[in-house]
This record gives sequence, C-alpha cells and structure tokens, in this order.
Amino acid sequence: MAVSSAKFFELRHTRSKGDLWPMLDRVYGRHTAYEPFKTALLATLKSAWHRRPNDLKLLDLKRDLDPDWFQRSEMVGYACYTDRFAGQLKDVQDRLPYLQSLGVNYLHLMPLLEPRPRPNDGGYSIMDYRRVNPDLGTMDDLETLAGTMRANDMSLCIDLVLNHTAREHAWAQKALAGDPFYQAFYYFFDDDTQPRLYERSLIEIFPNDSPGNFTYVPELDKWVWTTFTEHQWDLNWSNPWVFLEIVKVMMFLANKGIDILRLDAVAFLWKRLGTRCQSEPEVHWLLRALRACSRIVSPAVLHLEEAITGPAEMLTYLGRGEHDGREGNLAYHNNLMVQYWSALASRDTTLMRHVMRENFPETVTNATYATYLRCHDDIGWAISDEDTGALGMSGHAHRAFLSDFYEGTFPGSFSNGALFQENKGTGDKRISGTLASLAGMEQPDGEEMAIHRILMGTALIASFGGVPLIYMGDEIATLNDFSYLQDEYRFDDSRWVHRPAMDWDRVAQAESGRDPQARVLAGTRHIMARRKATVQFHGTVPTHILEPDAIEVFGFSRLAPTGAVVCLFNMSDRIVSVSGGWLRDQGITEFYDLLSNAEVGLHEDQLVLLPYARVWMT
Ligand code: GLC
Repeated sequence: MAVSSAKFFELRHTRSKGDLWPMLDRVYGRHTAYEPFKTALLATLKSAWHRRPNDLKLLDLKRDLDPDWFQRSEMVGYACYTDRFAGQLKDVQDRLPYLQSLGVNYLHLMPLLEPRPRPNDGGYSIMDYRRVNPDLGTMDDLETLAGTMRANDMSLCIDLVLNHTAREHAWAQKALAGDPFYQAFYYFFDDDTQPRLYERSLIEIFPNDSPGNFTYVPELDKWVWTTFTEHQWDLNWSNPWVFLEIVKVMMFLANKGIDILRLDAVAFLWKRLGTRCQSEPEVHWLLRALRACSRIVSPAVLHLEEAITGPAEMLTYLGRGEHDGREGNLAYHNNLMVQYWSALASRDTTLMRHVMRENFPETVTNATYATYLRCHDDIGWAISDEDTGALGMSGHAHRAFLSDFYEGTFPGSFSNGALFQENKGTGDKRISGTLASLAGMEQPDGEEMAIHRILMGTALIASFGGVPLIYMGDEIATLNDFSYLQDEYRFDDSRWVHRPAMDWDRVAQAESGRDPQARVLAGTRHIMARRKATVQFHGTVPTHILEPDAIEVFGFSRLAPTGAVVCLFNMSDRIVSVSGGWLRDQGITEFYDLLSNAEVGLHEDQLVLLPYARVWMT
C-alpha cells in the first residue's frame, strides 16, 4: 500500500502540533484576527508541503530517520561572503573542492537575499526575501547551488533576518504609503513619548553611528522602532500576520533547498516596556512555533538562532525548561569564544573554567552549538558581573582589560585588533579583527606563537561539542585589511577590517611550503580530519569541565560510552605540566593523543605541555 503525501503531512502535524498551536495561543490568543490567522497558517503549511520538491521530501525522510546528522563529529562549517569568496553564486560551485579539502560540509553564505542599496549593514537590511541580491545571481542560481551541494553531502546555510526589514521592503513601503494593514507590521509611535519611556531600559547596539532605538519618519510624522540602524525597521511580532508572512518566506527558502536557516537577531523579537527588550519569554514561544512549522513542512531544515548574549540567556535559545529540545537546533557559543580570548590574554583559565562549568550543562537536547573563534561581527565581552563577582574579580575592569588587550594598547599585548563602537556611557568597547591579527601574527617575531594560538583555538572548537565554524580566510591566517576606510559606505564600520576578500594566490602558495600561512592551512586541515575521525566528539556526548592543576590549562573530558577523551589546552606561552596520576584519575589509560594520532610519553610521570599545546588524550 502506498502511503499518501497527505498522510505524511498529517503525521508530522500530529508530531509537532503541541509545539505550534499552544505557543500561538499564548502569543496571539487574544488577537481579534486569531481564528482567520490560524486557518491561513494551516493552509500555508499544507500548500508549502504540497509544493515541496520530491528530492527534498526524500531528504526530510532521511534526516527524520537520522536525526543526529548535524551532531556528528563529521560536521565542519565555513562562513564566507559569496562575492568575496568566489564572485557570484554560480562561482561558488568551483570552490567546493577547496572547502571539501578542509573537511567542510556546512557552508554559511553571508546575507544574500536582496538588500536595500548600500548602506545596508553588510546585507542585513533586506528589501526582498524572495529575491537574491542581483550582484550575486538569481534564486535559480541559489537553488542550483543547493542542489549541487546536496549531491555532495554538503549543507547550505543562509541568513533569514527576522527582527527587521529594510525601509525599502514592500511592507514598509506600503506602510509609508499609509496602508494601516502594513503599518501594523512595524512599531509606529505618533510622538516620542513612548520611545523615550522604552529608551530608559534599552541598550544601544551601534551607539556611535546609530544611537538610540527609534527613528523619526517625516513622511508619516511618526516614530518607528529601529534597534539597529535607521533603515532597519523592527517587525512587530505581536501581529500574527507578521508571523504568517515570515513562515511563508521560510517555507519558500526551504523549498529551494536551503538546509539551515540562520535566524538573525532573534533576541529582539519581543518588546516589553521597562526591559532591555531582549530574550523576553514570548521570543521563545515564537521561535518554538517557527521551529514546529519547519518540522511539519521541511524537517530536513535546521534553525540556527543567532543570539549573542551572556551565558544563561544564550542557552535559552537551545530550549530550556519546558522548551527543552524544542527550539533552535544550533546556537552560537559566543561564550566559549569570549573565554578563549579572555584566557589567552590573562594566561589563566580560572574564569573560563568557572563560566563553562557553572553556566553550561554537559549536554543539550536535540541541539548543539556552533563553535567559533571569531565571526563577521565584532567581539563583545559577554562576561557577566555574577561570574566575575563569584571569583572576586571586577567585571568592568576585566572587560576593559580585554578591550585594551585586543586593541593592542595594553602593555605586552600580542594583539592588533580594531576598536568597534565605544559606548562612552557604559565604557563598553567591542573589538574587530581577523583571527590571525587578534592572535598576534602581526607582532615582530610573533608568528610562531600566533600559529600555535590559532591552532590551539581551532582544536578547542573542534572538540568541545558543536559544529566548528571556520571564518573565511582564517585558515590561511589572513590579516586585518584597512582598505574599508576608503569605502564611503564602510569606513565607519570597523567590522569590515576582518572581512577581506579571499586571497586565492595566498591559498595556492600555502598549498606547499612552510610559511605561517601554509602551516595554519595544513594545521586546520589536520585538526578537522582528526575531529571527523573522533566519533567521541558527537554533540550528544557530555562535555565535563576539568580542573587540571596548572591554571594555564583549560580541559574537559568528553564522556563517551567507549571511554573518556580528555582534551587539554595550554592557554599560555609557558611550559606547564599535568601529572600522569591526575590523567589516570580522569580515565586515561592509553596515553594516546587522538589529535596528533600518536602515543605521548610522560616525563617523570608528567605530561609536559609546551606553549599553546593541545592534546586529545585517551
Ligand atoms: C546580526 C548580524 C549583524 C547585523 C545584525 C543586524 O547580529 O550578525 O551583522 O548587524 O544582526 O541585522
């Protein structure tokens, strides 16, 4: 008996309806249009399923049968700008072999849906969710690329900006033309009374060039909510029709073959007077409901939720409490990233151990982290006063130290970062820079240590648990590039310092030889190959934070059923050691390093760790 397609829909709806309708009841239950909205949503889901291409339906089935596919150690990610990496979308195809040589099977192409003309916040100010940026190609090109990647067992991730549209988006344009239905898609205020009240508790994202969270719209003589820049208008998620339209977009993209939707800036989706308007409970109700829509129509698709926050808040995006296992499949582990830089600067892992142990569970349900050392954005020092306070440290002083250290002004610093958005009010300073520049590659005679800092960090994100993400060019130790200062639309945004175009001549040179670029490339390839071979790094295997004697060493044990893998990282330029007895206490019997794929000898029962050493011991 053949099973009908409608039956599949019904079964998937039954599976996920508890994540969908009760959440929507909470958010929209009292809205006057709630009943028609629900009818429209169900019809949208059904028709999206009906239109889903057969090969994608097959992929749905495959991933439903194999739900841990993204948690396996095989997964390695890479993020890049299409134009700066390859040219157009159709040119990305030619670069897939290079990515495969790095072990990459997950590619995040930075914003590629049609943005407003520049300035557009690096493409995050979207004008049309259903068209590709014409400079990069067409929707057909995107679909073709996704298909080629699928045939090569690679997944494609793209950005879906949920919090705002460009003021040039059709919805905003209709709102500007006076259409009340579309005015209700945004937050408009007749005067600045309400905005002023909200501002009392809001923080500023871009305090230097986009101060405040509201923008005056002269055409309407109204104020509109703009968390980021004046051209990025926040969507009003308390309006169910916004939810419906975004679901339509999600399904449209899923049916083009996109594997991972990176849901941008999700923390900001719900506004509540008297709060920071970040990570309010409704945000999680909405995200759980959106996730349910994907699980019903396109279960092959994952949600990567972008919320760059302090530890406790960040975890909620992977589902906490009643949402456990039911929200994002992936979330950025910005805290691991921040703690890597913090420990390197202070040559001391006390804070890192504390933050990782006290805030993060050893496993997360149906989800895993996206681990990274830097990204296309600046680094904000997401270290809470509670965590520093528990260790008798001043949070403010430590954050200020890190900013100075990575800006390169702190005496003895090895780093060469650039300042991003100094908030004079709070003293908060964020930092831009490529991995190599931040890690000290530009210091006179600093290359040797920089190479080891980079490879130690890469081994850290490859083993901690999660999908490690390489940012374009970091694998060939790309340095900061100040040419953005000559660009009239970019000069005021130092994030462009770490977004230079891929230097393919450099890659060609690095394919042979022993220069620092070649060593970082070969080292990165080696680490990712060893990760893939280490099944114990599956995302569901608990990560237990250890307390090695040497305070310079960060360590954790991956507690696999077949035995522990103890991963140790010397975060300093000192030679330190860990005793054999302590390692045996952690279950280490073979003294075999899975990273170098060789046995390690102890010296007087001590494991000696050279500056920035990394080992994965069994
Ligand atoms: C996310 C992006 C960032 C962008 C912001 C607004 O945080 O990573 O680059 O500026 O959202 O869309």
